[in-house]
Amino acid sequence: MSPTLNYVDLHSHILPGIDDGSPDLATSMAMIEGLVNLGFSTICATPHQKEGQYLPSFEAIDDAYKKVLDEVSSRDLAVTIPLAAENMWDSTFFERLSTDAIPSYDNGAAFLMEFVPNQLPMGLFDHIFDLRRKGKLPVVAHPERYAPLWKDPETVAKLAADCAMVVDLGALAGDHGRKQAKYARKMVLEGIAHAAASDAHTPDDIESAQKGMAWIEKKAGAAALKRLLATNPAKILAGEHPEG
Ligand SMILES: [Fe+2]
Repeated sequence: MSPTLNYVDLHSHILPGIDDGSPDLATSMAMIEGLVNLGFSTICATPHQKEGQYLPSFEAIDDAYKKVLDEVSSRDLAVTIPLAAENMWDSTFFERLSTDAIPSYDNGAAFLMEFVPNQLPMGLFDHIFDLRRKGKLPVVAHPERYAPLWKDPETVAKLAADCAMVVDLGALAGDHGRKQAKYARKMVLEGIAHAAASDAHTPDDIESAQKGMAWIEKKAGAAALKRLLATNPAKILAGEHPEG
């Protein structure tokens, strides 16, 4: 694919050895090169920040991040790798919420968050209101994963009005389960999804991302592909809600 596509991946686990993503630098580089070949010129590293499972220290993250940046520059790859995190809505998140210390994209206004799949967090919309008032942009990771949204278009619309909605390309490809595929596709076709991202954990996920991109192009058109992978994610990265 052309290197001028300038796709922006808002969600990936490319940093080595700190969560359930890439285990080592060689794998990280295979993933990064795979994404570059698909047209990504910006790949955000979003390691988990999830209590009881994957809560790498900022020091460990910085260390892994530096290793990747050094290797990218030694290979002369035309790619920018902003640092962020995938923040689970748990008590660590809450603590950071109260001290304005949620790890965000490039230390900017936008930050990626996820919830447990079966229940939306208590008081979610009050917190979102506060965050928006403070100029923050919450970015919802894989909204297709949250069962309470599947049959609740009003809540989805409310969430999409104040948050950026970033579906997984692998879900669009059908690789994350039947219900997730159905709902992710619906969100794209109805214009509720603002962006799509790889959420890549392994090199195999790059193939899945490619399938998801092909699905978007075939079913929603080339303009939608550009909007979901380039225009909107660039805005989100800059802290702007894609719909202003
Ligand atoms: Fe993720």
